[in-house]
Amino acid sequence: MKICVGVFFGGRSTEHEISCISANQALHALNRDKYDVLPIYISKENEFYTGDALFDLSNYADIVKDPSSHLDKVAIYKDGNAVKVRPIKGLFKKEMQIDVAFPIVHGTNVEDGTLAGFLQMLDIPFTSCDVLGGSLGQDKAAMKDVFASHGIPMVEHFVIYGNDFEEGYDSYFAKAKQIGFPLIAKPANLGSSIGIEVIKNQKDFREKIRECLKYDFKVVVEKMISDLMEVNISVIGSQEEMRCSAIEEVTNGFLDFDKKYQPGGSKGGKVSGSKTPAAKGASKGMASTVRKVPADLSEEKKEEIETIARKVFRALNSYGCVRIDFMIDRSSDKVYCNEINTIPGSLAFYLWKHDGIEFDEECDILISNALKRYASRSRKTFSFDTNILDNYRKK
Ligand SMILES: Nc1ncnc2c1ncn2[C@@H]1O[C@H](COP(=O)(O)OP(=O)(O)O)[C@@H](O)[C@H]1O
Ligand SMILES: [Mg+2]
Repeated sequence: MKICVGVFFGGRSTEHEISCISANQALHALNRDKYDVLPIYISKENEFYTGDALFDLSNYADIVKDPSSHLDKVAIYKDGNAVKVRPIKGLFKKEMQIDVAFPIVHGTNVEDGTLAGFLQMLDIPFTSCDVLGGSLGQDKAAMKDVFASHGIPMVEHFVIYGNDFEEGYDSYFAKAKQIGFPLIAKPANLGSSIGIEVIKNQKDFREKIRECLKYDFKVVVEKMISDLMEVNISVIGSQEEMRCSAIEEVTNGFLDFDKKYQPGGSKGGKVSGSKTPAAKGASKGMASTVRKVPADLSEEKKEEIETIARKVFRALNSYGCVRIDFMIDRSSDKVYCNEINTIPGSLAFYLWKHDGIEFDEECDILISNALKRYASRSRKTFSFDTNILDNYRKK
């Protein structure tokens, strides 16, 4: 019997639409000789849906507005050792069972460990990071704390909390001056450059931080690298065994959301130095990004980046396929780790493809690792028998 893979995507996130695009690519890449594929769409209201219409991206503009126009609402629940997907309406609709969950979600309320927690409760093998990995990967402030404790190089930064920004203004401002302008301010929990502000000088500080605080309670403020080279690497694997992909260089990384994702924005997401055409939305936050695979880097720099990437993967409790983004200050040639994307756009398939791993093979690796992790987790002890509750029996 084939393994049934449930591909989960969407969710209450600013990156909902990007997730639909990434998931659609995977829905078509998964090898049908090996797997039955069940798309599970999470609406913006956090309801689950399935249906064949999900295989065709041209339906999505309507689906996102009104999922029930094309799809069946489903309940997902555990039944003994099985995880079942049951249509809620329509008495004659068939109930299905999924064996592995394949989350392709981006951003808050899904990628941040929320969906991982749900899947862990269902006790089903799944291909992405667990709760801790997902949540550390989402929160830029927490992520940097872990970077610091593992000696992972990053640009100088501090964190502003919304509840005491006005009261603590002087001390925050002093920290900003100490790092020196220009600075970059980022909402701790968003992605795709949403809400990011460049603070050119002291005069703009208060206003820009207030703007940024509209998006999040916590804001990360960091030194802006003016002479910037951005490079990304993907890592696939587990805490025991990991593998690094080719490194890409991206330009136009810092664009606002519309420019990044609207067709015709900038250069249309071209890959140069590689035969791989980047699909629209191919790298979350980078549809309009120009990418070069492989990046033009010395062997030494490549090694340095790979070594840091492995360290990051380990430190952040990562799993599955992640993309780790770096910034190189061209003026000093220093490498800084910027962030991790725990479920990167398009699962970074274009980087693996460059290394000779086609997208279907990448999916195979992720599914087989998920099954291995599940088996090894099942061997761990999560409960033990005790008679402690017997003491509370009515005598
Ligand atoms: N310290 C910095 N100096 C210069 N540019 C930066 C800095 N931090 C971020 N950027 C630019 O902003 C973009 C988005 O920032 P990032 O931290 O990656 O947030 P997001 O989660 O929104 O992708 C980066 O790809 C980069 O182009
Ligand atoms: Mg980024």
